[in-house]
Amino acid sequence: EGPPPAGEAAIVLARGEAAGSPEAYALDVAPSGVTVTAAKRAGLFYGAISVWQLAVQDAAKGPAQLPAVSIDDAPRFVWRGFMLDSARHFQKVETIKAILDAMAAHKLNVLHWHLVDDQGWRLEIKKYPKLTSEGAWRVPAGAAGRDPKTGKAIRYGGFYTQDQVRDLVAYAAARGITVVPEIEMPGHALAPLVAYPQYGMTKTPPRQNMGDWGVFPYLYNTDDQTFAFLNDVLDEVMDLFPSQYIHVGGDEAVKDQWKASPAIQARIAQLGVKDEHGLQSWFIQRAEKHINARGRRMIGWDEILEGGLAPNATVMSWRGIDGAVAAASQGHDAVLAPDSTLYMDRRQSASADEPPGRLKIISLKDVYDFDAAPAALTEAQRAHILGLQATAFTEHMRTDERLQKMTFPRLVAVAENGWTPAARHDWNSFTARLPAEMARLDALGVAHDTVPYEPQATLTPAEGGKVSVALASGLGLGEIRYTADGAVPTTASPLYDAPLDVAPGKTIRARTFLDGQGFGRVRDYPVSLLAANTRSSHQLEVCGNGINLSLEDDAPVNGQRAVFAVDLMNPCWVWKGADLSSALKLTARIGQVPFNFQIGADKAKIPLRAPATPAGELDVRLDGCAGEVIAAIPLGAAARGPGLGTVSGVLPARAGRHDLCLTFTARSVEPTLVLDQVTLTAAGKSGKN
Ligand code: ACM
Repeated sequence: EGPPPAGEAAIVLARGEAAGSPEAYALDVAPSGVTVTAAKRAGLFYGAISVWQLAVQDAAKGPAQLPAVSIDDAPRFVWRGFMLDSARHFQKVETIKAILDAMAAHKLNVLHWHLVDDQGWRLEIKKYPKLTSEGAWRVPAGAAGRDPKTGKAIRYGGFYTQDQVRDLVAYAAARGITVVPEIEMPGHALAPLVAYPQYGMTKTPPRQNMGDWGVFPYLYNTDDQTFAFLNDVLDEVMDLFPSQYIHVGGDEAVKDQWKASPAIQARIAQLGVKDEHGLQSWFIQRAEKHINARGRRMIGWDEILEGGLAPNATVMSWRGIDGAVAAASQGHDAVLAPDSTLYMDRRQSASADEPPGRLKIISLKDVYDFDAAPAALTEAQRAHILGLQATAFTEHMRTDERLQKMTFPRLVAVAENGWTPAARHDWNSFTARLPAEMARLDALGVAHDTVPYEPQATLTPAEGGKVSVALASGLGLGEIRYTADGAVPTTASPLYDAPLDVAPGKTIRARTFLDGQGFGRVRDYPVSLLAANTRSSHQLEVCGNGINLSLEDDAPVNGQRAVFAVDLMNPCWVWKGADLSSALKLTARIGQVPFNFQIGADKAKIPLRAPATPAGELDVRLDGCAGEVIAAIPLGAAARGPGLGTVSGVLPARAGRHDLCLTFTARSVEPTLVLDQVTLTAAGKSGKN
């Protein structure tokens, strides 16, 4: 057979039988043409996406060639989701459309839209205009919230009009994606309560706290007028969003305000529920009744299990998969959205070049390897797992580009996990397709993180005044090739296989190659003794495992900000194995960040060490953080901020190599002092290397 004659369609989409699900399709690629057959529009759409994927998989190798194939395809799960938090940071409509395009290209079908939180209310509600005129705006904490010239507050925020929402919902629907809105209750409610305090537990909920992150204490009250308000809101929400599911949040509603309130305690007694958890269950059931009355279904985070699950509720399991196990064992449906594995606010590699986020690393491989059919579930319980979902909580994603880089390429691994049967799961096959995948994401105009593919250099002093350069990529895929003569590395450049001894003054240029194709960017590493004797906070060991963040500085308001690796529960860093056989000069670049974290009573657990000088000191301890203080370097003006400051001091000689523990003294956590980088050089010299 030859190609179809001119004038005849080369690609035919036809309605017909396709086994399995409404999203199933059959694809036939033959010399005479391409045929996609499906019973429903969604199946035709996914068949067409597969044709596109086949056509561009070898894009870097020349003109598109479709392999002859015959495929019967259907998704593993009905819920293949992505949650976007537009409350902590607000995204442009165009950005959300680009994400929807990329979701559709990977056969994802649910956008869970987190529209409401303590930091902002982002959805226009006609009956309650103050939700957006008041609740959509905050002042960022610290220097980020003040004009440096005038000292005036800078407002941050925004909201989506109902027209914009209708447009986005239609845009998503055209791509096979259902938008599931989330309206949080009874907690995560500071923003609406700033707008309408009568529905809360205090007369004046603190507006200034809208610039904080964390778990807040502000709850709705349980008066009838509050449910009337919530029902009105849900009515407008259900008018805007035709989704079967409506998400009511339910997570992290700390019960302190309810515990302390005589009115709430009277309500608990009157209702005959057991305690505050029972009251939350009653609260959520009232919402469910309203949602069910309009023919919709309610979904909530796994805390809605506490105090008893509402009769028809579906559970979104975020505290691991325990919530899904509990829901399924009670005969309820569940979606797997576990922290940390499917939380896109985690870093993708150890590189200091990663966008800010939570410090724990969740690599592309960790996401790919996520087991969506855990052994903790019986076969019958597994039938209740609707699918899986990645979440992008955006506290640390200040820009739309960062949101996209934190989300992609990991969301591609989520998509494959959601579509492909476990038996066809194959990391090597997935990674072989990554170069083509990057080209697809570029074509879609979606930013994606390439850092974990790229060679990262670790520089250390070597013999004879040279510098040892070790290269490794976060994911360890492919091979690293490098040059030392300024040339762009190619497949013909030397293969890296062991640390290099390099003379200061040279630049190592390195790139990863996968199957002969450049993979990620060329990285340049200028080699100097100063660089070899310097470690960024990301290259030091963070002592604790409390609130570990790759945290952006609050200054400057505009322009590039430093990013610190820090455990906010114990700001402390370790330089491993410093050679103290002669005295050293320690130079530290330091910053200070606002403590804008709502952590309740845990704040009192953060260790404070009393300062000896007015601005405090950088303390250096020997052989661990309980060791002898060998230097206490006064911070002086360097601590003042905003922005970075530099201090230096001398460490006395001690035989051999030692771990150095670095902490600050301070009277308060506001602001919190943080290390940006540390340099160790021979004492007595100028420090010029
Ligand atoms: C959540 O991360 N609080 C759902």
